[in-house]
Parts: sequence; C-alpha cells; structure tokens
Amino acid sequence: MQNDEQVSNYVFPKWVNKLPMVILTGTALVLSFVIFVFWYWFSPKHLDVGYSPKQPIPYSHKLHVSELGLDCRYCHTQVENSSHSNIPSTDTCMNCHTQIKTKSPHIMKLKESYISNKPMQWVKVHKLPDHVYFNHSRHINAGVSCYSCHGRVDQMEVVHQVQPLSMSWCLECHRAPENHLRPKEFVTKLDWKADNQAEIGRQIKEAYKIHPGEDCNTCHR
Ligand code: HEC
Ligand code: HEC
Ligand code: HEC
Ligand code: HEC
Ligand code: HEC
Repeated sequence: MQNDEQVSNYVFPKWVNKLPMVILTGTALVLSFVIFVFWYWFSPKHLDVGYSPKQPIPYSHKLHVSELGLDCRYCHTQVENSSHSNIPSTDTCMNCHTQIKTKSPHIMKLKESYISNKPMQWVKVHKLPDHVYFNHSRHINAGVSCYSCHGRVDQMEVVHQVQPLSMSWCLECHRAPENHLRPKEFVTKLDWKADNQAEIGRQIKEAYKIHPGEDCNTCHR
C-alpha cells in the first residue's frame, strides 16, 4: 500500500513539496520590492509645494528681513540650538510695535494678543508626518542654509513652501551634501552664493567630517 505522500515522492522530486512555500515567500519579497521601488522612485517630488495658508495678520518677511535687516534668529531664536525652530511670541514683535504703526488694525490685533497673553494663531506652513524625525540645529550647525530647504524667505510677502519635503528630496542632499554646505556665518544670508560651491562644499564636508545618515533610523525612530 502507498499513501499519497509516497506517490508524490515517487512521481515528483522531493523539492517540489517545498515549492508552494518558495513561491509564496518569493512572491511576497518581489511584491514588497516592487512596491518599495514604485513608491520610492515615484514618490511625489512636489508634495505641497506652493502651499501658502492665509495668516491671521499679513506679516511680511520681505519687509522685516530684506528692508529692516533683521536676522532670522532675531525671531526664530531656537533654530541653531534645538530640533524645533520656534515661531516668535508676540513679545518679540512688541519690541518695536509698541511704537511703530500702532494705529494699524493688524498691529492692534498684535497688541490684543500681547495684552491678553493669547498667542497669535499662526498657521503652520511646513509639516512633516509624525513618523519622520527632523532636527534643525543639526543642519544649521553643519552649514546647511535655511535657503536650501525654505528658499528665499527674505523675499516673501507671504511664506510658501518651495521644497517637497519628501523622502527622496531629503536623501538627495544626504547623499551629496557638498552641493549645499556653506560657512556657518552665512546660513541665514539667503542671497549668499559660493563662487565654487562644489569645492567649498567638499572642503567643509571634510573639515567637519559631515556624513548625513542614509539609514532608515536616521529619520524614522
Ligand atoms: C520679525 C520676526 C521674524 C524674522 C526676522 C523672521 N521670521 Fe520667519 N516667521 C515669523 C513669523 C511671525 C512666522 C509665522 C507667520 C508666517 O508664516 O508668515 C514666521 C514663519 C516662518 C516660516 C514658516 C514656518 C511654518 O509655518 O512652516 C519660515 C520657513 C520662516 N519663518 C523662515 C525665516 C527665515 C529663513 C528668516 C530669515 C531670513 C526668518 N524667518 C526671519 C517671524 C520672523
Ligand atoms: C525691529 C522692529 C520690528 C519688529 C521686531 C517687528 N516689526 Fe513689524 N514692522 C516694523 C516696521 C518698521 C514696519 C513698517 C512700518 C511702516 O510701514 O512704516 C513694520 C510693519 C509691520 C506690519 C504692517 C503693518 C501695516 O498695517 O502696515 C505688520 C503686520 C507687522 N509689522 C507685523 C509684525 C509682527 C507679527 C512681528 C513679530 C513677529 C513684527 N512685526 C516685528 C518693525 C518691526
Ligand atoms: C534641511 C532642511 C531645513 C533647513 C536647513 C531649515 N529648515 Fe526650517 N523646516 C524644515 C522642515 C522639514 C520643517 C518642518 C518640520 C516639521 O514639520 O517637523 C521646517 C519648519 C520650520 C519652521 C516651522 C516650525 C513650526 O513649528 O511651525 C520654521 C519657523 C523654520 N523651519 C525656520 C527655519 C529657519 C529660520 C532656518 C534657517 C536658520 C531653517 N528653518 C532651516 C527644514 C529645514
Ligand atoms: C540640503 C541638504 C539637506 C537636506 C535637504 C536634508 N538634510 Fe538632513 N542633514 C544634512 C546634513 C549636512 C546633516 C549633518 C550631518 C552631520 O552632521 O554629519 C544632516 C543631518 C540630519 C539628521 C541628524 C543625523 C543624525 O545622525 O542625528 C537628521 C535626523 C536629518 N538630517 C533628517 C533630515 C530629514 C528628515 C530631511 C528631509 C525632511 C533632511 N534631513 C533633509 C543635510 C540635509
Ligand atoms: C533623510 C531622511 C530619511 C531617511 C534616511 C529615510 N526616510 Fe523614509 N521618509 C522620510 C520622509 C521625510 C518621509 C515623509 C515623506 C512623505 O510624506 O512623502 C518618509 C516616509 C517614509 C515612509 C512612508 C511613506 C508614505 O507614503 O507615507 C516609509 C514606509 C519610509 N519612509 C520608509 C523608509 C525606509 C525603509 C528607509 C530606509 C531604507 C527610510 N525610510 C529612510 C525621510 C527619510
């Protein structure tokens, strides 16, 4: 008497028994690879580019930075020390606006916020998903300018997003940071341009041993 197993052993070579498992895991692997490649190569390069929500009052970076000459860090005080770049509190604005344009309805709104101690409800422009870890100070201290990620904010009446903030965009720079590095004293000078970016970038990269991570856990932890 032969049972079914013996029959199949007899008719097909033994490895055939394992075939369904091999096919299954193989398909699963190929599938996840295809999904990864698709998602990676075709991940949007233009995620929210141009996004420019309406703010509670028309604060102009162009006026305050380019015309009045304020440095980014006058307001975004934490940007070189912390992972998060803070939005200034109304107190910072009132250094000037207790005196300047006090009759303007916009400045009256500021004053209201100041007196009542209720922060201005600025609408966030740039936003990464929660599963992504980002750190401002690491970038600023390595010599990456606000310009590389936020564009010419100094010329914007209203802030809008100029870069996609997608994973492929982050990685493009992490693989070749020399295209963006500059001496640290120029990180907030958005109109600064190197005569020879490739050369200066390479020197800074070597001098400060800059190697941005490409492992998943650099940005997903
Ligand atoms: C006088 C204060 C002040 C100065 C100086 C200033 N900012 Fe701002 N910044 C603000 C305020 C207030 C907001 C929130 C309102 C808005 O988005 O316009 C803001 C918003 C931003 C945003 C958008 C944040 C978001 O919601 O995603 C970026 C980017 C930014 N600033 C970059 C810069 C850069 C770069 C500089 C220097 C070139 C600079 N800022 C100088 C006050 C300032
Ligand atoms: C260094 C001084 C200074 C600081 C700090 C400052 N401003 Fe101003 N702001 C000015 C000057 C100067 C003007 C232009 C006044 C004019 O048009 O004559 C102005 C104009 C404005 C106007 C236009 C007002 C109108 O109706 O024409 C707004 C709105 C404004 N600022 C908001 C802010 C906000 C919000 C902050 C804080 C994030 C801030 N400012 C911080 C000096 C400052
Ligand atoms: C390497 C890219 C990069 C550089 C360089 C960079 N930023 Fe940002 N910035 C981002 C990203 C990404 C976000 C969104 C962060 C998030 O959602 O967690 C952001 C958010 C912000 C915000 C909004 C924070 C909030 O909570 O509303 C401000 C303000 C800001 N950046 C200012 C600056 C200033 C000023 C500089 C230069 C001194 C600068 N950034 C340099 C990428 C960058
Ligand atoms: C324009 C270039 C540039 C862009 C764009 C950029 N990075 Fe970076 N990143 C760097 C450099 C340079 C460093 C510093 C590496 C060092 O100090 O060795 C860095 C460091 C980091 C670090 C700290 C690494 C560590 O080991 O702790 C994190 C986290 C990070 N980047 C996340 C991001 C994310 C997320 C994005 C996209 C939203 C992004 N970066 C976009 C250039 C960039
Ligand atoms: C330099 C920073 C950085 C590194 C390194 C990185 N990621 Fe990401 N990743 C991001 C950012 C930023 C996003 C969010 C982009 C978006 O919303 O499209 C993201 C999103 C994702 C998502 C979600 C996609 C979606 O559509 O929501 C997955 C999955 C992911 N990453 C996997 C990985 C894996 C796997 C690795 C390692 C091979 C990796 N990441 C390395 C920055 C990074």
